[in-house]
Amino acid sequence: MRNEDFEEAAITVQPINPPPRLLMGPGPINADPRVLRAMSAQLVGQYDPAMTEYMNETMALYRQVFQTQNEQTLLIDGTSRAGIEAALVSLVAPGDRVLVPIFGRFGHLLREIAERAGAEVHVIEREWGTVFTAAEIEAAIRETKPKLLAVVHGDTSTTVAQPLEGLGEICEKHGVLFYTDVTASLAGNAFDTDALGLDAVTAGLQKCLAGPSGSAPATFSPRAVEVINSRKSIEAGIAGSDAEIHESRIRSNYFDLAMIFDYWGEKRLNHHTEATSMLYGARECARLLVEEGMAAAVERHRLHGAAMLAGVQGLGLEVFGDPAAKMNNVVAVVIPDAVNGDAVRGELLNDFGIEIGTSFGPLHGKVWRIGTMGYNARRDAVLTTLASLEQVLRRHGASVAAGGGAGAAYDLYQDTQAGAAS
Ligand SMILES: Cc1ncc(COP(=O)(O)O)c(C=O)c1O
Repeated sequence: MRNEDFEEAAITVQPINPPPRLLMGPGPINADPRVLRAMSAQLVGQYDPAMTEYMNETMALYRQVFQTQNEQTLLIDGTSRAGIEAALVSLVAPGDRVLVPIFGRFGHLLREIAERAGAEVHVIEREWGTVFTAAEIEAAIRETKPKLLAVVHGDTSTTVAQPLEGLGEICEKHGVLFYTDVTASLAGNAFDTDALGLDAVTAGLQKCLAGPSGSAPATFSPRAVEVINSRKSIEAGIAGSDAEIHESRIRSNYFDLAMIFDYWGEKRLNHHTEATSMLYGARECARLLVEEGMAAAVERHRLHGAAMLAGVQGLGLEVFGDPAAKMNNVVAVVIPDAVNGDAVRGELLNDFGIEIGTSFGPLHGKVWRIGTMGYNARRDAVLTTLASLEQVLRRHGASVAAGGGAGAAYDLYQDTQAGAAS
């Protein structure tokens, strides 16, 4: 290719102008416009007092979002799996035993990341759509004697959430650190870090937090901080002139939480250059939730999730997964035999601008996943999705109850209003 050809190619690129979409899949969802506005604010220097104040405020806000007193509550730069990697690579040294109960795709991810951190990983598995009892997890802890229990809370791949109640006590009794990934569940389902006895929790913005992906809020108990700091190393050229290398040095520089704590803490020891625009966005996500109230945010997700569930059932569709363990913010809908699942999704996107989710692994081609989360946990979004889905299903030859979807959701909203008024 000649130079002139490169130049011609460059000027044909148009400004970013995404098509209008209503994102009703399992995440990402449409970001709250207030979060997008916060992200477009001008940058300030990394150690500008305004910036360090924003960092402190972000920590304080996320303590409320996570319901914790943990000092070390901060952002890991990167998508949710950056938070998972930071937690696991910093808590687990090569050869340490980790127990991962797997009940969906993201349990496999925890296993994979723990293995890459050099852990000796033990797993117990359950069929997708079901969850473990605390007794099953305790039995596995007795057998494998792990240093860390790593469990996904809500697994978007199956739409169910592992109950965490009682696991904190079990971990404490057996001297095990307790970590959970709440990427899919935080702010949409009841969750209290301290009451559950958790040592490490990581999340993401792109679901019930109403932001874009790219920042991973996380919190660490004093016990976790002690374990992490016991492996602390300091890069050359930062504190003194020589590096201080611990014999069990954390195997990632970028995700070295001991260094990240010093960066977010009073020492402000230089580590990475903070992803300022993402911090603005993450701070706004938390600010909006705290303003709404965490209990109110969970109730909003419960209400709109219940309306979506009533709506798909009102259309005569079957729902996948243990109903007792279903997350508020996403439902898995069995694809009727009569239709091609991908063709239905494609038509919803092309004709109505609505995205719903496909599925992974054993559920691929069997269920759609429909979310009601974050900015899209709203009545108009639920009703529009159900009315559009009905039209597309009918065009594809499925027999659906006329008006049954939006109608059932309407009924639920009306009953709730009547209930609230009485
Ligand atoms: C429970 C859970 N964990 C981890 C992830 C991975 O997140 P990311 O793609 O932001 O790295 C997801 C994404 O959907 C998730 O639902």
